[in-house]
Amino acid sequence: MIMNSCCLYICVGIIFLGDISCQNCNQLQRKLRKANEVNFNLLSSNIRSTIPLQCIRDFIELSLEDTEKIIMIDMNDECQVDIAKTAVKEILQQIDLIFRQNHTELVWHGGSLRDFRIGLDQQIKMLETCGDAELEQDITSSRNWKLQLTRLRIKRYFQRLSDFLRNKKYSWCAWEIVQIQIKPCFQLINHYIQRIPSKVTVDF
Ligand SMILES: *[C@@H]1O[C@H](CO)[C@@H](O)[C@H](O)[C@H]1NC(C)=O
Repeated sequence: MIMNSCCLYICVGIIFLGDISCQNCNQLQRKLRKANEVNFNLLSSNIRSTIPLQCIRDFIELSLEDTEKIIMIDMNDECQVDIAKTAVKEILQQIDLIFRQNHTELVWHGGSLRDFRIGLDQQIKMLETCGDAELEQDITSSRNWKLQLTRLRIKRYFQRLSDFLRNKKYSWCAWEIVQIQIKPCFQLINHYIQRIPSKVTVDF
């Protein structure tokens, strides 16, 4: 673990100093996918697969759009890689924010919630280190517009989950429902990760 973050640190330094391609970024896609699978399994093993009967009434109140509809990426879009990176990062950050909220009613075994949050954090750092999709100077460019729209849509989806938790006073039912809604987000992330090239080519 220490080795890993140490290498990441060096990686940033190298890219900053001399545009030399970095070992740690070469397999960005594979690493992201692996970390995503670990997190998906951690979440899955700590939640139920269906909404508990006593929570159905709360669930009906939360009328959410389908997770898959949050953001669709056009395969022919020249910005699809940047949109995918932005989407993955925003979803991870939003999931992290949700799990920072009052979780006294959450029942996760052992230190698995801690591991889950560390996993999220590592994925976010990986994306930041290996080519974040930065906004351009020209704030009116169509690329910027697409990236902003991507983030906005994702934020809106999670805002609803967050409001729901707060309105339901972070009850056990609210958490059960929210977690079940978050699970498909990891499948969505996996779908976006496939758009991110596994090899980052950097010019010398
Ligand atoms: C957190 O949520 C629980 C369960 O609803 C509640 O009893 C507790 O007062 C809350 N804590 C804070 C700091 O809001």
